[in-house]
Amino acid sequence: MANLTTKYLGLDLKNPIIVGSSELCNSADKIAKLEEAGAGAVVLKSLFEEQILMDIDAERMNNMSGSYDHIENHLGYYLKKHSVDKYLNLIKDSKKAVNIPVIASINCYSDKEWIDFAEKVEKAGADALEVNLFALPADASLSGREMEQKYLNVIIKLLKVVNIPVSLKLSSYFSGLSNFFVELSKTKIEGMVLFNKFYTPAVDIEAEKIISGKITSTAADNANTLRWISVLSGQVDCDLSATTGVHTANEVISNILVGATTTQMVSAIMINGNGHIATVLAELEAWMDKKNHQSIDAFKGKLNQSRIMNPMMLERSQFMKYFADSGK
Ligand SMILES: Cc1cc2nc3c(=O)[nH]c(=O)nc-3n(C[C@H](O)[C@H](O)[C@H](O)COP(=O)(O)O)c2cc1C
Repeated sequence: MANLTTKYLGLDLKNPIIVGSSELCNSADKIAKLEEAGAGAVVLKSLFEEQILMDIDAERMNNMSGSYDHIENHLGYYLKKHSVDKYLNLIKDSKKAVNIPVIASINCYSDKEWIDFAEKVEKAGADALEVNLFALPADASLSGREMEQKYLNVIIKLLKVVNIPVSLKLSSYFSGLSNFFVELSKTKIEGMVLFNKFYTPAVDIEAEKIISGKITSTAADNANTLRWISVLSGQVDCDLSATTGVHTANEVISNILVGATTTQMVSAIMINGNGHIATVLAELEAWMDKKNHQSIDAFKGKLNQSRIMNPMMLERSQFMKYFADSGK
């Protein structure tokens, strides 16, 4: 029988399916049920930089004489403190409830004081920290390199504060993506999670207004992740975890074949329920048995760009054959 265990961020996982950060992982009860359903690890719902910074500001207000009687500050302090404390309790309760690794998650965009809070995440018992880092490249006065430096500043500061493994959840909005991701991987982060799926707007053409786009993915959304994990996995000095569009065993196997250590699932579980994890694991195991792969390592990275005969397949981005052949 195939051995599904794998190592991710230096942690031992019983299988490569991680339940990604989302409402699926916002209570110890839900996390216990995910463990029961077969998840290899969970990433908790994110705490946001803004929540942490508000907490720090409120703390300062509290320490300044005279300001605390301001009812708004008092109320703000209570509410914000509540969300940060609640998050630390979520980590503690989840760790008590399960044996699988519990990865905390922070969404951030700056290198401000929120970073010091990461120490509390570690003290609360999180096995690792996934940092969802995104600075919108909207400031026209900043060059690509200046934007990249913002990311590096966060990581350098963060790694001084925490000792647990850190992974970065990133977007693909970088011009020199390969070059920069290889540089990031050399900062002593343990992993990168590729790629974050953003909240997307849509237009209701009847009402002529902006509405929320579909929040869940389909398996077709996995293509960009697959391409870049294949391109990067032979070059980076850290683990790669695939996210966005991992719906079936096909995506789990494909992403591991191109070099991912683990795969993260959210939409597929939201749509199909926790029982979906067991279905995917059974299909993964059956495929490994059929192919005579006794472990995840036996096929991990077999199709990464540096090991395949025809790497151009991964770099091809224009539909040349179709346009050239069609004669239309
Ligand atoms: C309802 C919902 C809530 C999410 N919340 C978070 C979050 O708090 N932090 C985060 O890093 N990603 C969050 N995500 C993104 C997921 O972790 C994941 O990267 C994304 O959904 C793509 O994976 P999928 O195709 O398996 O859904 C959320 C996604 C959904 C659908």
